[in-house]
Amino acid sequence: MKTTPTPLAADALMPAPPDPATLRQSARFWDKMARKYAAHPIADEAGYEASLRRTSELLTESDQVLEIGCGTGTTALRLAPRVRHLHATDVSPQMVAIAQEKLAATPMAQLDFAVLDAAGAARQAPQAYDVVLAFNVLHLLPDLDGGLGAVWQALRPGGLFLSKTPCVAEMNPLIPWVALPVARALGKAPPVHCFQGPALEAAIARHGFEVLAVERHATQGRDVRPYIVARKPYPAATVAEPVPAR
Ligand SMILES: C[S@@+](CC[C@H](N)C(=O)[O-])C[C@H]1O[C@@H](n2cnc3c(N)ncnc32)[C@H](O)[C@@H]1O
Repeated sequence: MKTTPTPLAADALMPAPPDPATLRQSARFWDKMARKYAAHPIADEAGYEASLRRTSELLTESDQVLEIGCGTGTTALRLAPRVRHLHATDVSPQMVAIAQEKLAATPMAQLDFAVLDAAGAARQAPQAYDVVLAFNVLHLLPDLDGGLGAVWQALRPGGLFLSKTPCVAEMNPLIPWVALPVARALGKAPPVHCFQGPALEAAIARHGFEVLAVERHATQGRDVRPYIVARKPYPAATVAEPVPAR
């Protein structure tokens, strides 16, 4: 697809780092869940494979890739052989420990895992990545706009942002309004943003990304997890002022 030069978002500054206490709380929740999450089978295997295939089509072997919220590294381990390097990150040390165990069992030079949130990864290497991946994590970021700002900062101009996100407000209303608050009260669910797909697309576009495609890959039930392909545009070419005639 042809790139239409678009002005960079005005807020191209590094976003403020998220509140450390909130990040610690999130890490604690996911640390406790980590072994259970690792043992849990993928609910829609065919839908997951469709997303992996689509992602693979969009990657090239020269790509430097950042993954945020990589969990136990299942996706990173599948995609790393297709790229130059994949830096897979997650806020939970336990999730990353499991990912590292898996990597130790099948070592691969082009993959590494690190305990980092999105802002930390962007700060480490601004504009260094050709692709940023965020699967099943945007709804969990304490500050969605801050997270999207971090993705923007991490990507080089022309880089791709590939995400798949549960849009909880599109689920059965009993989930966001009943099941989720009850699970939260019992400490069995993390804080979750309940948005619909169009609101997520709008938030991505508001950060200056071009939304190139919104796809649905589920093979079972109603798909509440849009797969969004977005691109950080190149800066618009500066048009020289015409020289006034004397
Ligand atoms: C539902 S799991 C998804 C894991 C993996 N991406 C997948 O699709 O299986 C969400 C992951 O996001 C991580 N996470 C939550 N908040 C985060 C944050 N602020 N920054 C980075 N990772 C975060 C959690 O630790 C957890 O591993």
